[in-house]
Amino acid sequence: MYNHFLRGEEMIKHKGTVTIETVRLILRRFTTEDAYDMFTNWASDPEAVKFLPWGPHESIAVTLRRIKTWTDSYVFDNTYNWAICLKRTNHVIGSISAEILNDPGKTCEVGYCIGRQFWGQGIMTEALRAVMHFLFYEVGYERITARHDILNAASGRVMQKAGMRLDKIMYHVSMRRDKTYSDVAVYVKDIE
Ligand SMILES: CC(C)(COP(=O)(O)OP(=O)(O)OC[C@H]1O[C@@H](n2cnc3c(N)ncnc32)[C@H](O)[C@@H]1OP(=O)(O)O)[C@@H](O)C(=O)NCCC(=O)NCCS
Repeated sequence: MYNHFLRGEEMIKHKGTVTIETVRLILRRFTTEDAYDMFTNWASDPEAVKFLPWGPHESIAVTLRRIKTWTDSYVFDNTYNWAICLKRTNHVIGSISAEILNDPGKTCEVGYCIGRQFWGQGIMTEALRAVMHFLFYEVGYERITARHDILNAASGRVMQKAGMRLDKIMYHVSMRRDKTYSDVAVYVKDIE
């Protein structure tokens, strides 16, 4: 109780997108040299981006432009957007990011994507656990949220495996790219 009170008094200490290492992964800043990997591994694949707000990239130039906006944003130390690099091959296979929701309330939201050929190996669970640990214990967030389209059960499973709990389901709240409305599951993890 007392510790929690002390922790609550501390400020968020933004660190920016610093490198995080896990057993199989290096999470690091994107560079423009990652455009080929990003385009081929996930950004051009309609299946991989099916539940994301943006559609598949039609050319590597689109991917490069996207990466440039990300690399420019790294000057701000409240930007959290990691390239997921597989140590074994040194290729970038996906991304994981955190968006600030409410700094005074010490809450942020995570989102992620990896290429289809890497699904089902526990990779995103490994990345999410590491990112949440960093955001809690290095940056100072006390609540991390994540949300997924109810049809995207694999994403919900990642949240569960990373220790998040289902907070609520919001019905008919978000419009998909095909103009249908989705029900969205919101997951939460509080600092322990
Ligand atoms: C969702 C996604 C991140 C999962 O990444 P991943 O590295 O394959 O995840 P993990 O291997 O850590 O775990 C996936 C879990 O989902 C389960 N799963 C896979 N497909 C499923 C489905 N259709 N229904 C239910 N569970 C499913 C897997 O069995 C696994 O659970 P298990 O370990 O208990 O067997 C990945 O598929 C992806 O990037 N998809 C496209 C982008 C996306 O949807 N991002 C999330 C937006 S909210």
